[in-house]
Amino acid sequence: MHYLFEKGTPNGKKLLLLHGTGGDETSLLEIARFLDEEATLLSFRGTVQESGMNRFFKRDGLNQFDLVSLEEESDRLLQSIIAVSEEKGIPIEEWVIVGYSNGANIAAHILLERHLAIKQAILLHPMSLGVDTQDFLLSDKELWLSVSENDPIVSEEASNQLIQQLKNRQASVTIATTNSGHQITMNEINQTKKWLNER
Ligand code: MLT
Repeated sequence: MHYLFEKGTPNGKKLLLLHGTGGDETSLLEIARFLDEEATLLSFRGTVQESGMNRFFKRDGLNQFDLVSLEEESDRLLQSIIAVSEEKGIPIEEWVIVGYSNGANIAAHILLERHLAIKQAILLHPMSLGVDTQDFLLSDKELWLSVSENDPIVSEEASNQLIQQLKNRQASVTIATTNSGHQITMNEINQTKKWLNER
């Protein structure tokens, strides 16, 4: 997969960035640098194209997910994370995922459906993709999620379903509520920064 890597200072966080639909590996850089200006950054570009927009898995329409593509692309992303981490000498468990929208969705799917050593994730406006086939516990995971009361893409039902899936598996989940639709707000980024700094 195409990716961007920027080495930070030894004490900086290791942030793994996954953009939303139509974004690329640069989309979340400004936010990531705001979260920690000393961070090491690894940012992937989704390999799926939808009318010229990059995504991390295919869909057949709004929220009509192609579950075959979802599994293939989850494996591809996981292998890419492992390969780049090995090449750069960074232990996988040190990464903190920062995913937005489609990037948050594939991150949540990988956390639920694959054994991933990463323990912390910031998921901006994620939703359940309706897949829940595993029962291993996620009690070592600390997740921060934002949900919006008036999100035109993520229904209350879809965000609640994801929160319930994560909690059922004993993940620690912190939820921030926003009211700016599907957009990332400064308020949630400030909350994210505080959460990250406490860890
Ligand atoms: C998805 O397709 O993952 C969600 O609908 C969010 C998005 O629009 O990217």
